[in-house]
Amino acid sequence: MDGLEDRTQQIILETNRLRFATWVKEDWEEFRKLTSDPLVVRYLGTGVPWPEGRIKEFVNRQIENWEKHGICLWKLMPKDSDMLIGICGLQRLPEGPDVEIGWWLAPSHWGQGLATDAARQALAYGFDVSNFERIVAIAQSANRDSLHVMEKLGMRFENEAVHKGIRVVVYAITREIFNAARTKGEERA
Ligand SMILES: CC(C)(COP(=O)(O)OP(=O)(O)OC[C@H]1O[C@@H](n2cnc3c(N)ncnc32)[C@H](O)[C@@H]1OP(=O)(O)O)[C@@H](O)C(=O)NCCC(=O)NCCS
Repeated sequence: MDGLEDRTQQIILETNRLRFATWVKEDWEEFRKLTSDPLVVRYLGTGVPWPEGRIKEFVNRQIENWEKHGICLWKLMPKDSDMLIGICGLQRLPEGPDVEIGWWLAPSHWGQGLATDAARQALAYGFDVSNFERIVAIAQSANRDSLHVMEKLGMRFENEAVHKGIRVVVYAITREIFNAARTKGEERA
């Protein structure tokens, strides 16, 4: 279909509550639950559920990004089951040098600190393993919950723009700032 090899999922990262896994092509069907939930897609693009072709394209792109670049938006699963409860990870922006972090959770898992936990782990991977100097996050200005995650991570507002008629904000964090926040956290623990 697309030359992508059919591999089994691998667990790449873990937190106390979450596992990050690579994708297999068949995951698109389970991922459809997220992409067809109006609460999840509300602030993604035009806010409408994704058609099947777009879901498959997304999954195939993650498989390819992982194989070629060692980063992707990984699947998030709880520690005790293989249920797909969200995504979190890294991808290169289509234009320019920047790498973007992204996160989505099923609404049943909101309000538990899981997105922030997952994002900290993905940032650590980006700085420690992929050796990036800086990571950005982009969200629609109206997506207060996502902006709140950025702020909790210590990301700093960079600029605001209008993309396809929708107001978006860009936040960023450097390796230096992330490491300083990490050291402070370790001292407190
Ligand atoms: C953006 C999104 C991932 C945020 O999820 P979330 O659950 O609100 O984010 P968090 O993981 O930071 O959890 C938030 C709350 O959990 C609560 N919480 C409960 N237990 C907690 C714990 N053990 N540790 C930390 N927080 C905890 C906190 O009160 C926290 O809120 P606060 O920081 O105001 O105190 C979610 O709204 C989503 O998936 N939206 C749809 C997809 C989307 O728009 N993605 C972003 C595109 S840019």
